[in-house]
Amino acid sequence: MADLSTSYLGLSLKHPIIVGASPMTGSPDGVARCAAAGAAAVVLPSLFEEQLAQETAALSAALEQSSDWHAEVSQYLSADVALRTAPGSYIELIRESRARVDVPVIASINCVRAEWWQEFAAQVEAAGASALELNVAIMPTWFSMSGAEVEDRYESIVRAARAAVKIPIAVKLPETCSSLPDLLRRLQKAGANGFVLFNRFYMPTIDPDRLAIVTGERFSTPAELSPTLRWVALLSGQIRASLAASRGVHSGLDVVRCLLAGADVVQSVSAVIRQRPGHVETMRQELEAWMKAHDCQRLSDFRGRLSQSRNPETELFSRFQYMKVLSGKG
Ligand SMILES: Cc1cc2nc3c(=O)[nH]c(=O)nc-3n(C[C@H](O)[C@H](O)[C@H](O)COP(=O)(O)O)c2cc1C
Repeated sequence: MADLSTSYLGLSLKHPIIVGASPMTGSPDGVARCAAAGAAAVVLPSLFEEQLAQETAALSAALEQSSDWHAEVSQYLSADVALRTAPGSYIELIRESRARVDVPVIASINCVRAEWWQEFAAQVEAAGASALELNVAIMPTWFSMSGAEVEDRYESIVRAARAAVKIPIAVKLPETCSSLPDLLRRLQKAGANGFVLFNRFYMPTIDPDRLAIVTGERFSTPAELSPTLRWVALLSGQIRASLAASRGVHSGLDVVRCLLAGADVVQSVSAVIRQRPGHVETMRQELEAWMKAHDCQRLSDFRGRLSQSRNPETELFSRFQYMKVLSGKG
């Protein structure tokens, strides 16, 4: 049997597949279900600051109306709305989850500014959270805010969290930051122990028949993995922090791809919601089968093998343009 154990944020995990922040982990029962299905760790849904929580509640209510989901998804979503507006319930969720499962329970806070949640972060730690994930989601829509100011704000958020807690901190980022390598190094110096690349935000679209703005695709597709692979491959081995690959991880082979790029772990949500928590075990088995077929006994036998730092001669991940492909040379 291959050894799938790994370490993430200094936490020991039995394998690299984590159920990411989502309504699936929004109740102690949901957390227990994910752990029983084999998740190596779980991330709780983010606690949102009050105003954002109200918007999220409205969004979740809209999502709930969808008819193409199995019944459990609707249950997850209704539990989720109440949770996100109540810090007390969130603390209870951490306590109960820790009592019921023996895998790490990572709390998540949605951060837009450095202030409101600092005191809450200390309560999260006291309640027994194994680590804190900062879901930093700044939508820079103001003409008055420069890119440098946005990144300064990221840094001040991480510094505020580090001052508030001693547990490991992961920062979950969008891919739209102007210079990810520089930003990650700054955030690591400010106290981050790891990074989750990337978040997937609400994606509205336009219904041309109704002339209305409507909820776009709620779940990722496997095709969305490419930017994650690119950045994990470019950053792994270059920064002293854990890397969790997130967005578009749908299968055991996607887990293999992320590990080859250099990720320490993966987080999966869309695939696990759609196919129910038992999908974690399917992915784990696929990973194990791949390792057996490729004669790998442990993850370190192949982790990072296709990262940029191990393959400086290839510039495929840093290539932006299609020119060589179009000219038949790429
Ligand atoms: C219904 C739903 C709720 C989510 N809630 C959160 C959340 O509270 N906090 C967070 O950081 N990410 C949240 N996410 C984003 C997921 O954690 C994940 O980053 C994203 O779905 C991309 O991963 P995937 O491709 O495996 O789905 C949510 C995603 C979905 C579909």
